[in-house]
Amino acid sequence: MSFAATILTLYPEMFPGPLGTSLAGRALAEGKWVCDPIQIRDFATDKHRSVDDTPAGGGAGMVMRADVLARAVDHALEKRPDAPLLAMTPRGRPLTQARVRELAAGPGVTILCGRFEGIDERLFEARPIEPVSIGDYILSGGEMAALVTLDACIRLLPGVMGAASSGDEESFESGLLEYPHYTRPPEWEGRTIPEVLRSGDHAKIEAWRKTMAENDTRLRRPDLWERHEGARDQSPSGAR
Ligand code: ADE
Repeated sequence: MSFAATILTLYPEMFPGPLGTSLAGRALAEGKWVCDPIQIRDFATDKHRSVDDTPAGGGAGMVMRADVLARAVDHALEKRPDAPLLAMTPRGRPLTQARVRELAAGPGVTILCGRFEGIDERLFEARPIEPVSIGDYILSGGEMAALVTLDACIRLLPGVMGAASSGDEESFESGLLEYPHYTRPPEWEGRTIPEVLRSGDHAKIEAWRKTMAENDTRLRRPDLWERHEGARDQSPSGAR
């Protein structure tokens, strides 16, 4: 069974887009996932096929209508009743590698892409929709966020990445950033590769990588570091 990506969007031509090339593109050609973009406008009922209207209470921009979106969502739920339904919005909960793993292990995902100022809030009350953000910045719409979410899922599908995706050492699986990488040439612009990596001593290399991962996480991502340390303090073996 292939992973079904159903995307509700005003710009279906954006899919698969970049996911039609490289790793995800090969997986798509091999049938490991299917890409099913659906035009939201097809669920409008007036002659202008309108999907948005002015915000209640006034203000800039337009808001996506709950009634039109609900018809699109209901169509998708009927088509893929088992797939979780996400809506990409900067008001959502941040996407995590843990959630990506869950999604990739399931039958697929249906993604509603927001545009304009946002989506009528009543839609989130009336349908089982998980609001998801990919970060604290504003995109011009949910489509790029949907592509990011799908890319993160697809690389984890069985047979897509091979050995490299076993994943235990990857960033975030340990709650830390990954250690830094080096390759040939051994000297470049006067810079050498850390000696330990050329020592052949695997225990020493592992210890060095752990230290680097911890140092970089503490400096670059104090938020991750705090959570990591907090989790360690909670665990029975937490005392150092
Ligand atoms: N739509 C606009 N900005 C977004 C973001 N940061 N995450 C998800 N969807 C979005």
